[in-house]
Amino acid sequence: MEKILVLDFGGQYNQLIARRVRDNNVYAEILPYTTPIEKIRENGYKGIIFTGGPNSVYDMSSPHYSKEILDLGVPVLGICYGCQLIAWMSGGKVETAPVSEYGKIEFTAEKSLLFDDIPKKSIVWMSHTDYISTPGSGFRITGSTDDCPCAAMENNEKNIYAVQFHPEVTHSQFGSKILNNFLYKICRCSGDWVMDNFIENTVAKLRSEIGDKNVILGLSGGVDSSVAAGLLSRAVGNQLTCVFVDQGLMRKDEGDFVEKTFTELFDMNFVRINCKNHFLSKLKWVKDPEEKRKIIGAEFFNVFWNEIRNQKDKGFFAQGTIYPDCIESGKGDAAVIKTHHNRVKIPSDVQFAGVIEPLCDLFKDEVRRVGEKLGIPKELVWRQPFPGPGLGVRVIGEVTEEKIKVLQEADWVLRDEMAKNGYEKNLAQFFCVLPDVKTVGVMGDHRTYDHLIGIRAVTTDDFMTADWAKIPYDILAKVSNRITNEVAHVNRVVYDITSKPPGTVEWE
Ligand code: XMP
Repeated sequence: MEKILVLDFGGQYNQLIARRVRDNNVYAEILPYTTPIEKIRENGYKGIIFTGGPNSVYDMSSPHYSKEILDLGVPVLGICYGCQLIAWMSGGKVETAPVSEYGKIEFTAEKSLLFDDIPKKSIVWMSHTDYISTPGSGFRITGSTDDCPCAAMENNEKNIYAVQFHPEVTHSQFGSKILNNFLYKICRCSGDWVMDNFIENTVAKLRSEIGDKNVILGLSGGVDSSVAAGLLSRAVGNQLTCVFVDQGLMRKDEGDFVEKTFTELFDMNFVRINCKNHFLSKLKWVKDPEEKRKIIGAEFFNVFWNEIRNQKDKGFFAQGTIYPDCIESGKGDAAVIKTHHNRVKIPSDVQFAGVIEPLCDLFKDEVRRVGEKLGIPKELVWRQPFPGPGLGVRVIGEVTEEKIKVLQEADWVLRDEMAKNGYEKNLAQFFCVLPDVKTVGVMGDHRTYDHLIGIRAVTTDDFMTADWAKIPYDILAKVSNRITNEVAHVNRVVYDITSKPPGTVEWE
């Protein structure tokens, strides 16, 4: 199989680059910049992409790489920091730009194989404070912007290309065509990577790694764990036991739905553990979101451990972790934004043969494509994401049984109206939140002092950024009306009009 190496210098969009390459049917793998050159040589890549990164190339503590990589005879594409690194490695000059560029900028392209079939002027996404003031020796400038005289350069003899902007980001108008040109016109790939191959390779890898051991998978009934279950069940059949921990923090009737779906549709061992009271007692008095997440995550694993404590061969522990779960938990140089439930460490007294995360390199839409290929029903594959800590992070502040019940009922009304109005499939995610707030209202002739419900609805491709959804007012009015009429102890409904960033999708 043809492979592209994405050499990771610590930027935010590293996996996105790999994803865009794979969207072009070429397999991409990511390795850290600390990977020895011998390994890169042995792997026989068709092309190498240097990613962006948060540092300055002239800061000696920032990630660098041996100049030999530019003499391997393998085409190279440098992006942002990767572009500056190539200039620096080839004797060019990188310095603080007089004007930093951030956001959408007009780019002018010169004649180049990389820019084949794209207009001379187009919009690109820039994010840099350093710039190349002198390109490296053997390089010619192939693109510029008003404030960046060398926004693209190349060395045709060595097949080395570099762009200051981010072609992997959808805001770059022809970014995907530029990557396609690199893959097909410069690296001469044939496009042999398709989802069937991913499934085939992953199933084979899982079989050889798991052998005759058992596997326990934490199944939430969401897309990720369901697809992980599908892959594992194809790989090892009934060596797989799916354990569904019903912590009482699911949406209305969800526990029963998950149980019904998995016992009827899949040939696997299914165990449901009902432990609502246990979770509620652990969450008593706890208000801090991070603490709640940690408690829910830790208890989740404890419950698993209790389930298998008496088993002789504990086997592997599997989970449906996907890429955004990793990046936002502080992988690489990215800052910790939230402690995601999936990434909480297994307590030291819990011993598994290992942890299996078959989807950890995939974005949500790739996971869905795999799910469809595996024959998992569309209702499940296209089900909207639900966070591991469940309603625990949608009841803001202390979680109580009463608040959970109010939230479940309100959320059910919202889901019902969204489905009736055809919004279910158009929105990436929508749900209700119960803030730790009561407000005054009037019902009939009486003053009320009751709960507030927040509605959150977003559109997004990858959950790294999101827009608040522009749901028509009449639908919002209907939802608000129904919630205040049908759900006891709610007298006010508000709509969240915050994008991510600066907000996150969940409120906690
Ligand atoms: P945020 O709130 O981080 O959410 O913008 C992005 C996506 O991740 C989901 N999410 C989680 N998923 N465990 C999960 O499995 C978690 O702890 C968690 N927190 C947020 C969120 O619902 C959205 O889809």
